[in-house]
Amino acid sequence: MDRIRIVGGNELNGSIPISGAKNAALPLMIASLLTDGTLTLDNVPHLADVEQLTRILGNHGVDYSVNGRREAQDSAYARTVNFTAKNIVDTTAPYELVSRMRASFWVIGPLVARMGEARVSLPGGCAIGTRPVNLFIDGLRALGAEIDIEQGYVNARAPRGLVGNRYVFPKVSVGATHVLMMAATLARGQTVLENAAREPEVVNLAECLNAMGARVSGAGTPTIVVDGVATLSGATHHVIPDRIETGTYAMAVAMTGGDVILEGARAELLEAALEAVEQAGAEVTRLNSGIRVRRNGAGIRPVDITTEPFPGFPTDLQAQFMGLMTRAGGRSRITETIFENRFMHVQELARLGAKITLSGQTAIVDGVERLRGAPVMATDLRASVSLVIAGLAAEGETVVNRIYHLDRGFERLEEKLSGCGAVVERLSE
Ligand code: EPZ
Repeated sequence: MDRIRIVGGNELNGSIPISGAKNAALPLMIASLLTDGTLTLDNVPHLADVEQLTRILGNHGVDYSVNGRREAQDSAYARTVNFTAKNIVDTTAPYELVSRMRASFWVIGPLVARMGEARVSLPGGCAIGTRPVNLFIDGLRALGAEIDIEQGYVNARAPRGLVGNRYVFPKVSVGATHVLMMAATLARGQTVLENAAREPEVVNLAECLNAMGARVSGAGTPTIVVDGVATLSGATHHVIPDRIETGTYAMAVAMTGGDVILEGARAELLEAALEAVEQAGAEVTRLNSGIRVRRNGAGIRPVDITTEPFPGFPTDLQAQFMGLMTRAGGRSRITETIFENRFMHVQELARLGAKITLSGQTAIVDGVERLRGAPVMATDLRASVSLVIAGLAAEGETVVNRIYHLDRGFERLEEKLSGCGAVVERLSE
């Protein structure tokens, strides 16, 4: 299994191109199930999760082709991918596939809307929390689907099609917002989704659906209105830059010091995180073509954060910010409100010398003068990259094991960091 070796201590200087967002690309790919036309997605990142979802969609009958630029010599660069679900050959998403990636559960929305039926395995628990699917089930029932759960599968049926309705999410959920918005595009009449997620990925999906002929308004606000149409067509759509990758590298620069331009990043997608990075002592300049992050000389200041749905501080940057805070000049408090078990990085950061104590949903981080390299491993994507951030500032060698987690969500991480002067290499076995 591949590992990443880091020798800490170097500043980061240079520029890092920001890839297309994984969490935007996945629902956009799933939207291809809504039409027999071709959905062309541009700026699709080359990531293990994207490959896995491509396989899952293939199982339902989706054909895909890649119009890669520079495809032959560096296939890792952003690609333009065509997805065509001309004939849906199977409306079942089996356990073996869904259990490997939770987002694949989201096929339930387009399948029941277009085909009148879907049989999708329950995704099960995962490392960061229980992650139930009650909101998907309640929401699809509100649109007229009949749903039962049997032998670990959710069976959804709407033989005469879905019907528009008003649904109030009792809790903000990105995935359930994606699914109900997609399902409602093909429902008869109007659907009003209240307390919807406002994440930029929801807006990106709504824009794509509208390009396909849907009538969605209000995405990015808590109330999304969808007027159903009979069919959708193909379209071409651009995947937004990855705000979590952007924030991760901004925090890495704040950690090591230096001066880096995050090319193609869009500040408005992560203002809360950038403000925290500024409070921690880095200078953040919002450019037309990206974001410049600098920290020279001054130490890292402690900053308290609490994760919240967008536009609050994202849970997907909590681990990375904790990595940064391990070297702050004082105590910070990091509170996780989205997932109940998203602190697996705490134990591993401690292996590098961090001082962190947990009190319920809050981690109390007492910054230390120095971290020391060690072998570490993590059980999820964002936790793994927090260890990379800490490793960049630790004395000596840090080896991050199980980097398949990183490959799920960070494109060419070692290349991007070493291009800015870090000593980071992949050890392949
Ligand atoms: C999306 O997951 C992201 N995944 C996650 O990123 C991200 O952490 C999360 O949103 C929150 O921002 C993708 O976009 C592929 P939720 P999702 O439904 O949609 C509860 C990463 O590292 N809930 O918004 O699954 C749930 O348990 C990943 O890239 C219910 O109670 O998250 C959680 O507490 C990890 N019932 C809260 O809502 C439901 O039916 C928010 O989860 C659904 C969710």
